[in-house]
Amino acid sequence: MSVKQSVKKMVPQPVRNQIRRTREWNRTHRSADKQLRRFMSWISLDASTDKVHIETRLEFDIHRLEKGLSHQNLRLGFGKGVLKQITRRMTMLEHADPNYKHNALYLDALSALHEYQVRHEEQGFDLAAIKAIFPENIWNSAHSYIPDAEHHAGSFIMDNASKAHSAQKEFVDLAEGRHSVREYSDEPVSQETLDKVYAVSMRTPSVCNRQATRIHQISDPEIIKRALEIQGGFRSYKTPPVLLFVTSDVRAFMSGNERNEPFVDGGLFAMSLLYALEAFGLAACPLNAMFTDEVDEETRKLLNIPDYELPVMYIAVGNFPESVPICASIRKTPDEILTIIH
Ligand SMILES: Cc1cc2nc3c(=O)[nH]c(=O)nc-3n(C[C@H](O)[C@H](O)[C@H](O)COP(=O)(O)O)c2cc1C
Repeated sequence: MSVKQSVKKMVPQPVRNQIRRTREWNRTHRSADKQLRRFMSWISLDASTDKVHIETRLEFDIHRLEKGLSHQNLRLGFGKGVLKQITRRMTMLEHADPNYKHNALYLDALSALHEYQVRHEEQGFDLAAIKAIFPENIWNSAHSYIPDAEHHAGSFIMDNASKAHSAQKEFVDLAEGRHSVREYSDEPVSQETLDKVYAVSMRTPSVCNRQATRIHQISDPEIIKRALEIQGGFRSYKTPPVLLFVTSDVRAFMSGNERNEPFVDGGLFAMSLLYALEAFGLAACPLNAMFTDEVDEETRKLLNIPDYELPVMYIAVGNFPESVPICASIRKTPDEILTIIH
């Protein structure tokens, strides 16, 4: 018997288990710490001055403006705060990108601003106070901007008729026609349809088929209202008829290096839910669960979420209204995100 084996024999099993757990804990702690440090040293900060980091924040603010533009009742004069951020980031981009006049995000920003100007002018709203926020070149470029197919940020109207026969659509049509819808008709959502959505979503792959995803379906308007107040990313929209809370059951995992898997598998499942909702003719919008500790606690208490489940995201669900404004949410092109490794 080797020395290692004899030492092992002398140490009782519970102590060996404890040593193993401590080693696993320390390894995971180091690895999680390294991951966190990498994350925090590369994210976009308010003060970041390089192109990519500025673009991140400009994208975020364009989307905030799009959300304001995509309300059924436009709140005239909205968004002074976000407009200030957009003009600031566009000015920073003018310095960071010598080719800024062709920069996709700069053009998206002009396009969204153009819609903002036109829709206010159509309603006779005096934009003098808003114009004062902008350097003249940006305001004028937005005014004369002619949105093209590629850079048509802002909002568009989606017609309920385009959703007829969704279940018969080919995947490409279904995927290209899905958009986040944030305003719904008053018609209640059928449980039978939701059950079909869940059944299809069960086909989602998961690591070693562990199937950790859980869905909490909320239909009580008061609880939905409170959950979304706590969540904070759906303000100024009416309470959706149904809210799904997608979580991952951590008891399905076995070691520290699986710690991101609850979100990977939960994210895949959530995408299946979004496509299945679309296929069965329901409107939906994913909503973040990027909770602070306080928000996490409050949400757990409100929805009775067990300690072993991690939040992945919410999905607001309802029926499509006759027509509904949608955020354009312009995408990058595949060549911007693809690296072919030879
Ligand atoms: C994980 C996740 C979290 C999101 N959180 C929010 C949110 O809190 N509020 C919101 O209005 N939209 C939210 N969205 C919707 C995105 O804004 C939307 O998916 C994106 O702009 C792309 O548009 P599309 O879904 O219409 O294609 C979220 C989307 C995802 C995937």
